[in-house]
Amino acid sequence: MDAESIKRAYKRYAGIYDGVFGPLLASGRQAAIAHINKRGGRRILEVGVGTGVSLPAHRADNRVVGIDLSHDMLEVARGRVERERLDNVDALLEMDAGKLAFADNSFDVVVAMYVMTVVPDPQGTMAELERVCRPDGEILIVNHFAATEPGPRRTVERWLARFAPKLGWHPDFTLDNLLAGTGVTARTIATVPPFGLFSVLQIQRAAEAAG
Ligand SMILES: C[S@@+](CC[C@H](N)C(=O)[O-])C[C@H]1O[C@@H](n2cnc3c(N)ncnc32)[C@H](O)[C@@H]1O
Repeated sequence: MDAESIKRAYKRYAGIYDGVFGPLLASGRQAAIAHINKRGGRRILEVGVGTGVSLPAHRADNRVVGIDLSHDMLEVARGRVERERLDNVDALLEMDAGKLAFADNSFDVVVAMYVMTVVPDPQGTMAELERVCRPDGEILIVNHFAATEPGPRRTVERWLARFAPKLGWHPDFTLDNLLAGTGVTARTIATVPPFGLFSVLQIQRAAEAAG
């Protein structure tokens, strides 16, 4: 999906997103933010922050910047920051995750929740997340990854894939699709509802994997 299709899809979702996908996808966000919140005093980048539904969960002594391609989703996030007086949110910026306008090593933590199946270039986006994260920082991904073994789940995911442009995400996206050619590996921190379909991953860069 190109940037314009994504913007169109999320323009449709913006008004209903929190009501539908707020609770439905809450477990993955909670697991990721609980992991991030183990330490304070860090600078966090939320990639594809959307309506900012996770922003209130960040501990107050971490500073958060959110970026998203969708103006409409960000408008909801801005309303939330103002309403809930989220003083630790430094900025909400319209930006493409595949072309981040930040210097190298700008953040201690980079987190992308329910985003990597949506972006047009997942591997390029992964390279950008690595670039802006400090070498000793953390990259976390929360996502659905399609089944690779034959079975009912893989059949449904492949059937759903034809609706990707309308859905705004790719149901047939596998973990291999994300990692291929990136030089990173992933460690699963948690598998979360609904139906254990979503994974919370900590990305390990080549140097870390080598020990
Ligand atoms: C399923 S929503 C997830 C929102 C939020 N992270 C959450 O936990 O609910 C996906 C978000 O990714 C954004 N997005 C898609 N492609 C993007 C890109 N290339 N750059 C930045 N944001 C993008 C969409 O606009 C949308 O807000």
